Amino acid sequence: MNDIYRDPGTLEVLLSAEQIQARVAELGTEISEHYQGQELYVVGILKGAFVFAADLLRQLRIPCQVHFIEASSYGQGKESSGVVTMRHKLEVQGKHVLLVEDIYDTGNTLLQVMNDLQQQQPASLEACALLNKDIPEKQNISLKFQGFEIPPRFVVGYGLDYAEYYRELPCIACLD
Ligand code: IMP
Ligand code: MG
Repeated sequence: MNDIYRDPGTLEVLLSAEQIQARVAELGTEISEHYQGQELYVVGILKGAFVFAADLLRQLRIPCQVHFIEASSYGQGKESSGVVTMRHKLEVQGKHVLLVEDIYDTGNTLLQVMNDLQQQQPASLEACALLNKDIPEKQNISLKFQGFEIPPRFVVGYGLDYAEYYRELPCIACLD
C-alpha cells in the first residue's frame, strides 16, 4: 500500500452518507422549485463535484441537461494554490446555468468559473456547493444553494480527494 492512503475506517466522519443523501434530496426540491417552468443547464466542476452532481441530478424534477468543466486550484496539496486552471467548451448564452461545486473554500475556483461563463451572457447564473468551508478569507460569492457549512478542516470523500485518493467514500471525513 502507498503511504498516502490510510484505512478510511480510521478517519473521523464529519458527515455520514445518510446525512448527505437527506440534504441532497432537500436541495433537489429547493432547486426544482426555484427553476419551476424553466429548463436548467447544470454544470458540474470536475473532478470533485462528479459524485454530488450525479446525486443532485437525480433529485431534480425539472427538464435539465448536465455538462462538466474541468477546473482545479489544489494540485497535490492540502492548501489552495490560488491559481485556477480551467478547461471547457460550453456555450451557455441564454441558458439558466447552475454551477455545481463540491466545496466553496477560498472561492477562487467558483469566482473564476462564474466570471468566465458570465461573459457569454447566460439567462441566469447561480452556484450550488455541497460544502461551504468556514475560513476567514473568502472571495465574496453569493451561493444560491448550499448543502452544509463545515469547519476549516481538510475533508475527503463523496468526490473530494487528497492527491486523487478517497473520492469513493460515501461519507465526508476529515484528513487533518
Ligand atoms: P477554492 O477555489 O479555494 O474555493 O477551492 C475549491 C476547490 O478546492 C474544490 O473544488 C476542491 O476541489 C478543492 N478543495 C477545497 N477544500 C478542500 C478540502 O477540504 N478537501 C479536498 N478538496 C478541497
Ligand atoms: Mg474541485
